[in-house]
Amino acid sequence: MKKQIENRDDLKLLVRTFYDKIRADQEIGFFFNETITDWEEHLEKLTDFWEANILGTKNYNGNPITVHNAVDKKFNHQITSNLFGIWLNLWFATLDELFEGENVEILKRRAQKMSTFLIMNIFKSREHA
Ligand code: HEM
Repeated sequence: MKKQIENRDDLKLLVRTFYDKIRADQEIGFFFNETITDWEEHLEKLTDFWEANILGTKNYNGNPITVHNAVDKKFNHQITSNLFGIWLNLWFATLDELFEGENVEILKRRAQKMSTFLIMNIFKSREHA
């Protein structure tokens, strides 16, 4: 039987395994590899983000909308909803590979919602670009 997602260590493993897949992906890896210089910092931040999201801690205080609008601008507005689809497939695959239970389903739903939110804001930000 696989494990449930219960604590920060579980989220750390999830985030690390996910970004290994992301970095190796032909279509979206370069957005990350060419932007992120301090991977340890990024992985910690993403663990904070998901911990706040699922366990209700208050340790993430970034602004994902501003960050993704800036990434889209940096790459000459190349981000598409198809790329978000690839991101989500890797997220789902990592969750299913490592864990099971209610939090797996919650994390799938939250990422899906967040993707819609981010891509809509990217489109909106291009109107003012
Ligand atoms: C095609 C899809 C995506 C791409 C190309 C992408 C790319 C990136 C990159 C390059 C960064 C680092 C930015 C920097 O440090 O300057 C970043 C940060 C981040 N991403 Fe994404 N991302 C994608 C989808 C998502 C999704 C769906 C989520 C959440 C469900 C997400 C959550 C985050 C968060 C929380 C950060 C940290 C923001 C901060 O600095 O506070 N990303 N993303």
